[in-house]
Amino acid sequence: MKVEKLVIGVIGLGMGAHHLKGAINYGAEIGMICDVNPEKLKAVGEENNIPEDRRTTDYLDIVNNKEINAVLIATPDQQHREQVEACLAAGKHIMCEKPLALTREDLVAMVDAVKAHPECRFMIGQICRFTPAFIKAKEYIDSGAIGEIYFAESEYAHDYQHMFDHDPKNWRSDPIRNGVVGGGCHAVDLLRWLIGTDPSEVYALGTHKLLPAVTYDDANLAILKFPNNVMGKVFVSTACKRNYTMRTCVYGTKGTLIFDNTSPTMQVFLVDENGEGGHEPQEVEVQVNNHNANAEFKAFADALVNGTEIETPIIEGAKTVAACLAIIESSKTGKLVNPDYNF
Ligand SMILES: NC(=O)c1ccc[n+]([C@@H]2O[C@H](COP(=O)([O-])OP(=O)(O)OC[C@H]3O[C@@H](n4cnc5c(N)ncnc54)[C@H](O)[C@@H]3O)[C@@H](O)[C@H]2O)c1
Repeated sequence: MKVEKLVIGVIGLGMGAHHLKGAINYGAEIGMICDVNPEKLKAVGEENNIPEDRRTTDYLDIVNNKEINAVLIATPDQQHREQVEACLAAGKHIMCEKPLALTREDLVAMVDAVKAHPECRFMIGQICRFTPAFIKAKEYIDSGAIGEIYFAESEYAHDYQHMFDHDPKNWRSDPIRNGVVGGGCHAVDLLRWLIGTDPSEVYALGTHKLLPAVTYDDANLAILKFPNNVMGKVFVSTACKRNYTMRTCVYGTKGTLIFDNTSPTMQVFLVDENGEGGHEPQEVEVQVNNHNANAEFKAFADALVNGTEIETPIIEGAKTVAACLAIIESSKTGKLVNPDYNF
């Protein structure tokens, strides 16, 4: 199933403004953009030369527009399910921002809805899979250069305080939008992707010392057990006093990779041909592109235009959130939890 000509609708113009640029840079036609905030709609519309008759504050105008065949959903997490279901019912292809959903109920409903509409292609937007340093790390791992992975850790450390200074009722303060699923899903998804399997057991702790605007833990630490005795660790802080980072280390039997999403180099430790050494790092240059919306949109569009597979179909988003929900449950109960990947 190939799409001859892409006509894009964009719903939500925060992160969605980046996706809009990705679509414009790709050369896709922009059918309509939407934001409930008229000032934001005007500003993004003018900046990108989108005529006024292609701007709306009601996302149903995009859903009901027959020319638009693909929709980029970048609204607050709580709205993803309703908008995905509406777009599917109207026969649209969809790229939806992470996290897919915030609850098990919504995850299951969304996976079922996508299964019920095989004519619509669905991509979950896990943008870290397009971050140059993370792609480079994946190449080292897949080439066998660092041998067999035995431990990998990643973190999502991002201070949300400024968002609440600007708007104390920011949608991220909703108790259901726990930082582990909202932002930590990036680190969990990264480990799932780099290791290539899903954690089968999770044990986690949580604490709350920094972010008064939220009732959920503002820091969590999770130990993950992956198949083949691979160990994992995820740290999430939504109020850290440092710059945003996803510092990540992957330890293998022949080498180690240390990298993040905001540094121009990564450290690569490799044993020599005799299996010795590996204690001095090579500094490998990487492009810094933390929100690589161009590459993410290209992956979506190429799959539609060429009829090829989507690398992050809905099940990828669902499994990542399932692991995050297990982390939240374990931090609340103090018990080991098995994520439920039964979709
Ligand atoms: N991939 C990433 O790295 C990344 C980064 C930030 C946010 N996100 C995700 O992107 C989504 C949006 O987050 P954000 O940071 O852009 O939030 P934001 O609050 O900055 O922007 C959301 C926009 O959506 C608009 N909006 C809200 N409800 C709407 C509706 N019903 N119809 C149309 N517009 C509506 C708001 O007015 C706002 O302009 C969330 O799912 C978030 O988790 C992903």
